[in-house]
Order: sequence, then C-alpha cells, then structure tokens
Amino acid sequence: MFVVGGSASQLLSKELAKSLKAKLAKVEIKRFPDDECYVRIDDDLDEEDVFLVQTSWPDRNIVELLLLQDAIRQYDVSSLTTVVPYFGYARQDKQFKSGEPISARALAHVIQMNTDEFLTVDVHAPSVIDWFEDVSAKNVEAYPQIGRHLKGKGVELVLSPDEGRAKNARKVADFVNCESDYLVKERLDGETVTMTPKKLDVKGKNVAIVDDIISTGGTIIKAAEQLKKQGAARITAACTHGVFAGNAIPKLEAVLDDLCTTDTIENPRTCITVAPEIARIAKD
Ligand code: R5P
Repeated sequence: MFVVGGSASQLLSKELAKSLKAKLAKVEIKRFPDDECYVRIDDDLDEEDVFLVQTSWPDRNIVELLLLQDAIRQYDVSSLTTVVPYFGYARQDKQFKSGEPISARALAHVIQMNTDEFLTVDVHAPSVIDWFEDVSAKNVEAYPQIGRHLKGKGVELVLSPDEGRAKNARKVADFVNCESDYLVKERLDGETVTMTPKKLDVKGKNVAIVDDIISTGGTIIKAAEQLKKQGAARITAACTHGVFAGNAIPKLEAVLDDLCTTDTIENPRTCITVAPEIARIAKD
C-alpha cells in the first residue's frame, strides 16, 4: 500500500502513511518557468492500493491533483483512493443565480473520472458527496481529533458560532467531557451585531469555539469579542480547515488565547492531524 502526497498535503500524507502502515511514495513535483506543473512518481505502484492526498485549494493544486491521478493510472494499481482533505468550491454547491456554474459538481465530475474511491473531510455542504455519481465517496468527520486535542486543556464549554453547526460542537464537547452551546447572532443596527450563547453563561469560563472553516476570521473574531465582553476567561478557536484569507491569523490572535486547525490545509497554526480518522473510514 502506498500514499502519494501532493504538495498541498505533505504533512497529512506522512501522517496517513503512518496510520495506514503504508509506504510514502517518492514524488517529484515542480513548476516550469511558465508555471505549468510537472509531476513524476518514482516508485513502482503496480498491484498496490494507492491513496492520493491533495487538497483542491487554491486552484493550482487542482491541476496538480489531476496530473497525479493520471500519473498513478500509468501503473496497474489495485485501487486508487483520492483523498481531498479540503474540498475547495464546496460553498458553490448549487446555482444561487441563473448563469452560475455548480462549481462543486464541476470539480467532482473531473476528480471521479480517474479514481476508484473518493474521501474528503468535513465538506462544507454534504450535498457535494452526491455529485460523485460514479464512485464511492465518503465524508470523514474531524471532530474526534479536534475533541482529543482539546481534551485536557481545561475547556469547560464548546461553542458553535451558529445553530447549524451546534451538533458538531456537541460531538467535540462529548470528547472533552464538558457542556456545549451555540451562539445566536442578533443585529442591533446597521453596524452592530451581538453574538450570545443561547443558554449558558460564559463568565470566568475556558471556552472553545469550533467551526468547519475559518476564512477571513470575521465570524470567530466577532464571537470572541462578544465572549470576552461577557467575561469569558480564556478563548480557544479550533477549526478543521484553516483557510486564513489575507492577514486573518494576526487579527484572530489579537482576540484569541489559542488558535489551532487540522492538517486538511497546511498553515502555521496546524496542530491536529485528521489522518487517524481518514484511515479509520478508509478501512470501513
Ligand atoms: C460558515 O458557514 C462557515 O461554517 C464558517 O463559519 C465561515 O466560512 C467562516 O468564514 P469567515 O472566517 O470568513 O468568517
């Protein structure tokens, strides 16, 4: 069994190879002067079960993913499982206005052409999985790993930034063995919104906010500012996919006590691996 790691998912590929007790394939990846991508696999993958790991964000990583799939298909592999830990374009999972593409479907259709199975992690819209019509496709949940990371850090309350993800906060809280709640956003005027926990008091508490994606950081910053005003003693934010658009990290760290993400996107705050959960679902 081999793991082939794309350049966007080097950390996770190594961890997944450990979890699967697989070999990490030797791969050469470079860019030509005109920025076209070149890949070459320097291992014999004939009759091997192969896991290809590459996040499909930003766009240049999609091309690399497709080239790596094609390179793997030059071998007579027993099976190819394509793992896209962060599935970019999942937020455009339907047409919001006429004339738009269904971007998630467009990506799913090209990825499934050259794989036997597909895995992703905490996909933003679960409907994305349904666009993989020709191959087995599964979503892996990161909450057990986030929960294990937060356990032992004295967290007393796990919060979701909205009701939609309250179930996830509950699942993380079950690992930590504490209470969970979700924030309710209320617009007071054109410029002021408040975010308050639905039921629980945060005064003096060590609170963790968990979300699937942190992009601009706006959601978490607003939540953390409100929680501080309400007397929270310590605030950690943990997410699956640390996109961190622009200079989100320093803005977030100005209001947070701790910030951590999984390795679905490699970033300076990656401190949790989702490899054991991918390996578990892959063996199911
Ligand atoms: C929203 O549905 C997501 O779960 C995240 O809360 C959102 O993507 C975070 O975005 P930002 O960091 O830009 O506020």
